[in-house]
Amino acid sequence: MSRRALLAGNWKMHLTIAQAVELAQAVAAACADCRDRDVMLAPPFTALAGVAQALQGSNIFLGAQNVAWEAQGAFTGEIAPPMLIDIGVRMVIIGHSERRQIFLEDNAMINRRLRAALEFGLIPVLCIGETLEERESGATFAVLEKQLRGALHDVPPGQAEQIVLAYEPVWAIGTGKTASTEQAQEAHHFLRNLLADIYNKKLAETIRVLYGGSVKPDNIDALMAQADIDGALVGGAALQVESFKRIIRFQ
Ligand code: PGA
Repeated sequence: MSRRALLAGNWKMHLTIAQAVELAQAVAAACADCRDRDVMLAPPFTALAGVAQALQGSNIFLGAQNVAWEAQGAFTGEIAPPMLIDIGVRMVIIGHSERRQIFLEDNAMINRRLRAALEFGLIPVLCIGETLEERESGATFAVLEKQLRGALHDVPPGQAEQIVLAYEPVWAIGTGKTASTEQAQEAHHFLRNLLADIYNKKLAETIRVLYGGSVKPDNIDALMAQADIDGALVGGAALQVESFKRIIRFQ
């Protein structure tokens, strides 16, 4: 089973509209011949419209960094799925560790966001991952299982096949400390078995599992060589065109 690679850039709370448009144009130019892999860019909400225009005619997926669970209503500060679709968004990051840790999003809330995204036809990039403390106490797999089962609660297989999963060890995000290829592959393999247990083996073989956490030009090739690593969710290195270009062109 060969899964199509996905290289995703999460721009977090960075870049003005003009800077985002410039970076998107540069990435689109660099990706003009990317036929065997998918690329996604997730700018901040304020830059979505500009980046959508910059990506017109390219095959890059426009992504958002979060999504509300209702179609509209009194939810100050939130953005509804139809609003994202209206602007051209096709993928959405859900459950990023910064949302979990800083904004206290729990598995139940992440599950609501995920189900709403799926209902409206957005492709969720569901993030899960353990903290350093959890890893050091031997709780990694238990934490991953709780996060994955919680997020997928009541998600039928027909919808689950749309999901992209991202394993992002919290201790590796923005720290320059990448998980070793063995640590990453071990976690990805565990997650694929877990998906087979929750759904079935065939579905587990089709779902893409990305690695995230200090992905850089000098470690992307080794990560992508692992059997269960199907792509990368990239923060810091996605903000510079040269480094992201090298990541997209992994060998
Ligand atoms: P990083 O961020 O690449 O800067 O570590 C990854 C992420 O938060 O998705």
